[in-house]
Amino acid sequence: MIPEEKVREIAERLSIVEVVSDYVPLRRAGGNFLGLCPFHAEKTPSFNVNPAREIFHCFGCGEGGNAFSFIMKIEGVSFPEAVKLLARKAGIEIEERQLTPTEKKTQDEHVQFLRINELTTSYYRSVLLNGQEGEAARQYLAKRTVDTDISEAYHLGFAPDRWDGLAKHLQNNGVDLNIAAKLGIIRKSDSGWHDLLRNRLIFPIRDARGQVIAFAGRVLDGSLPKYINSPESPLYHKSSVLFGLNMALPSIRTGGSVIIVEGYFDHLALYRAGVENVVATCGTALTSTHAGQIKRHAERVYTLFDSDNAGKKATIRSMELFLEQRIPAYVISLPPGDDPDSFLGTHSAAEFVAIRDKARPAFEYFVRSLLAETPPDSVDNKVRIIDDIVPRFRKIADSVERDLYEKEICRLLGITVHSFRKRMQGGGFAHNKDAATSQSIILQPGDNVQDTLLALLLNYPDARAEIVRNGLDNIFSDDYLELAGLILDRLDGSEDSRTLSHMAETFAKPEHKILFSRIMVSDGYLDDIEWRDVLNQCTRSNERKQLGSIKEIAARLAVLDTNCDEYTLLLKQADTLRTRKSKL
Ligand code: GTP
Ligand code: MN
Repeated sequence: MIPEEKVREIAERLSIVEVVSDYVPLRRAGGNFLGLCPFHAEKTPSFNVNPAREIFHCFGCGEGGNAFSFIMKIEGVSFPEAVKLLARKAGIEIEERQLTPTEKKTQDEHVQFLRINELTTSYYRSVLLNGQEGEAARQYLAKRTVDTDISEAYHLGFAPDRWDGLAKHLQNNGVDLNIAAKLGIIRKSDSGWHDLLRNRLIFPIRDARGQVIAFAGRVLDGSLPKYINSPESPLYHKSSVLFGLNMALPSIRTGGSVIIVEGYFDHLALYRAGVENVVATCGTALTSTHAGQIKRHAERVYTLFDSDNAGKKATIRSMELFLEQRIPAYVISLPPGDDPDSFLGTHSAAEFVAIRDKARPAFEYFVRSLLAETPPDSVDNKVRIIDDIVPRFRKIADSVERDLYEKEICRLLGITVHSFRKRMQGGGFAHNKDAATSQSIILQPGDNVQDTLLALLLNYPDARAEIVRNGLDNIFSDDYLELAGLILDRLDGSEDSRTLSHMAETFAKPEHKILFSRIMVSDGYLDDIEWRDVLNQCTRSNERKQLGSIKEIAARLAVLDTNCDEYTLLLKQADTLRTRKSKL
């Protein structure tokens, strides 16, 4: 470990401008220095270095930090390595502090984990390449036209059809098997050590730096499960790993965009066709951690998921993540039934690129699939569609984009922009005479009820008391409940306007800030109302909604086998809803 004082000394000795200039040409622009961001592709400089504060920030990709984080990021090294690198530059000698026993143990174990994964990768690889045991896998790869270069690029391997091939191999190499077991690749049972992956084609899963952190194994035939992945471990967190990122980084940096696919073979098929800016999730849905990672490297993202229902859902869910992270997202749609592998089996790479170039903005894709599912031919349907659209529409950061989509949505639904905006602002209960045709839309229950309830909580102490008496969780839906609780905490008896205007700053989550400030600027309609009337209206509307869902659950229960898990689960849900309703 490097002592804290040394780190400070290095930071004082070097200017961040000096450090960054070794990698990026900078020119002075006011108090800052400006250059082309090395972390994403850009043509006009948005990468700023501020010498007074010793920080850098890129307005294009959001990357930022101090001299050490700059080195970590650009050199792909750990913090201690970055410190050592800069110490050399500053001409400072560092003797490392003795590690505490726990730190030492963790560090040693980490080194061993990486060695074990290296040994495992080369074991599987040699089984694939040499000898009789790998023959079936070699034939399988030949059948899928995976040649030796591609096999090498992915470090593909084969786990032989034996109980303890890997365990033995690790043991012969002096590995402590108890440590290997922490990676989940071998397990101990009464009969001894045995391997997790047997008779499977192996994809090593590597992190952005190319270090092997886990393994996925595919069967060679049609049996199930198709894939087995090594489990979460100190090295492997599947919600943050993007398969193939290490191979994709150079081309993501030059082109600025990344394509996300679902499967290992989808990745392989595209890479083989020369489309290298591709990553795959490891059998999980895309998470906000994934999206954050993507934002760090790419300016633009394409999703390329199956065209079935699950794939559509995944596409829309990922659109939300990208809207939240403000990354422009597009949807690539292959012909129905095709995935990248099957498509490229019968089409050229150029044909794929042509389809990619026709990718639609994710939000447009979302609105269109919503309309395909629910035709906007009745007021009820329109309300349902708008309620689906509004929370996502709010996440569109770019004002030009919002304007365009707003017009498009209104055109498709045959409603006025005015009534759409009204709905957006949650202006629920004032009568709106100039939009008579869309009146029923505006008065429908939806987000605006929750907005109004939150506004009551903020503005009327008596309503607040009443809401607390009824129980927050009987009043607020999941999206609002947490914020409502926070607001109650903050109010603490005093509610002058100053407390309120500062409150937004005290919320840690951006979505809370956004929701709160939206309500703060749009609750004017509550100025001269009788709070009890409005509260009653809102709770009645909540009640109607809950009754609705009880009805849906009942319908589902009627067709289910009473022994199945879903039945028990739904029954419980219905019970909870009934009790909640009876408390209202
Ligand atoms: P091929 O069918 O050989 O083309 O493989 P693929 O990688 O394209 O798989 P598929 O399209 O069926 O599934 C996409 C991804 O979902 C896979 O790459 C895996 O990450 C994951 N997956 C599919 N089946 C399983 C499974 O049975 N178990 C686990 N853990 N993951 C799976
Ligand atoms: Mn596939």
